[in-house]
Amino acid sequence: MNRWRTLSLRGRLVLLYAALLILSVGLVGCYSYWNIWQLFISSKSSHLRASAKPVIEHWLIDCNLTEQDFVHLSFTAHDAASLARDLTSRNTVAVILNRQAKILANGKRLPEEPTAPAPDNHYLRRALSGENEITYRSKVNATPVLVLLIPLRPHPASPHIFGVVQISTLLTDINRILFRHGAMLIGIMAVILILGVAAGFWLIGISLKDLRGLLVTCNQITSGNFTRRAHVNNPRDEIGQLAKSFNQMIDRIETTFASQQRFVANAAHELLTPLTGLRGSLEVLLRGAQDDAAAVARLSRGMYKEVDRLIRLCDQLLGLSRLEGSSNVRKQRIVLSGFINDFKNQAQVLAQDHSMIIEPGPFVTFIADPDLLKQILLNLLSNALHYSPPGTSIILGWRLLPGQVEIWLSDQGIGMDAETLSHVFEPFYQGKAITVSGEKGAGLGLSLTQSMVAAHGGAIRIESKPGQGTSVFVTFPLQ
Ligand SMILES: Nc1ncnc2c1ncn2[C@@H]1O[C@H](COP(=O)(O)OP(=O)(O)OP(=O)(O)O)[C@@H](O)[C@H]1O
Ligand SMILES: [Mg+2]
Repeated sequence: MNRWRTLSLRGRLVLLYAALLILSVGLVGCYSYWNIWQLFISSKSSHLRASAKPVIEHWLIDCNLTEQDFVHLSFTAHDAASLARDLTSRNTVAVILNRQAKILANGKRLPEEPTAPAPDNHYLRRALSGENEITYRSKVNATPVLVLLIPLRPHPASPHIFGVVQISTLLTDINRILFRHGAMLIGIMAVILILGVAAGFWLIGISLKDLRGLLVTCNQITSGNFTRRAHVNNPRDEIGQLAKSFNQMIDRIETTFASQQRFVANAAHELLTPLTGLRGSLEVLLRGAQDDAAAVARLSRGMYKEVDRLIRLCDQLLGLSRLEGSSNVRKQRIVLSGFINDFKNQAQVLAQDHSMIIEPGPFVTFIADPDLLKQILLNLLSNALHYSPPGTSIILGWRLLPGQVEIWLSDQGIGMDAETLSHVFEPFYQGKAITVSGEKGAGLGLSLTQSMVAAHGGAIRIESKPGQGTSVFVTFPLQ
């Protein structure tokens, strides 16, 4: 079994194929050999029977006995001897037995004539009970013979059997022909096997060529060459489909890899900006500004802002990594109207320059993590506040859709162009528009929101036009 496992796929397939070929060719060979043997035996026995029949009929006429004579066994060894002799030839010997299965005559006279086998009591009994076509094989001095038993009746329609003729003939000639035939069959089978295995080896090699190509590509990719792709020869067969799926998988891995690299570079860049600001302020302080109270106060305020920005950034990054594992989402049943009411109180504190309007939808409960849901709404509110001028309205509402609940938040702010809209969910992406307050975010808010929504099995979409405000729609499944 271990040897089998160490073989290559091609080796295993060729061995299996060869074994199947040997089995099928062997079966066909044995069947045809057996068929020919049966044909020879049946034609030999019919020939013997056909030649014995007229001899027996003539003998019955020559004996000139009545049916009564036969029935009362007035059938002499002399009569039997003449019949046995008539039925004996160079290849065939006849023995006549009476109703008591006693040998009355044996046809063999000359040394070159074959020896008759000893009668087989089992077959003899069957012949004496009236069974006509009895043929079996036996052996005389290790030479195979075919034996025929013909019951003797006064006339063909008579129910009385007064004896049995046993005719045996040598099977040496049939054996010789069959031996030659067998040798020829073995030769043909060997040729078929050699040609079949060679053709199988070649065909399996061709079929596995694509698989070997895939293996080479795999090894190249493993050693770092991400640009390599498997060649798809036939997209309809299994190997072609495997190569296609493999290429798609590598495409995805490459995209993920590239986006991770971009993410790390962007994160480092975003962290670097406040850190550079902090270093600059510290340098100014170290160069002597610490003696100027007004400068210290100004620089401290600046440094506090930078530290605040760093903390927010780290918070968002932690939030993103927390969402990688679904075990960090603690869901519970939420009554939406109550939840939004609580949120409104907090929102109104943040949106003092705007008017916060709630447009309540129907009563609905669903399963969600309340902390994450609040964070989602806060992120959307933060964007609405940043990108819409003071005095405008921010509307929060919800409605029921088939199987899901949709929460939406609209502002009457600067809106987004199509270019911004197509990138807003990418981490660190920031549109060209400047926030109303002039403060810059990190570009993580919406990508974090999208991950939080996805952790609930929901979806997020944005409708926006430059100068016409923005509406964000978040859906959550009800089940
Ligand atoms: N309500 C909105 N109106 C107009 N533009 C918006 C709105 N919300 C988001 N955007 C645009 O989408 C970009 C990405 O938003 P996102 O919330 O991801 O990052 P951010 O607000 O810039 O920074 P952060 O949220 O990390 O502080 C923004 O820079 C802005 O250009
Ligand atoms: Mg934001």
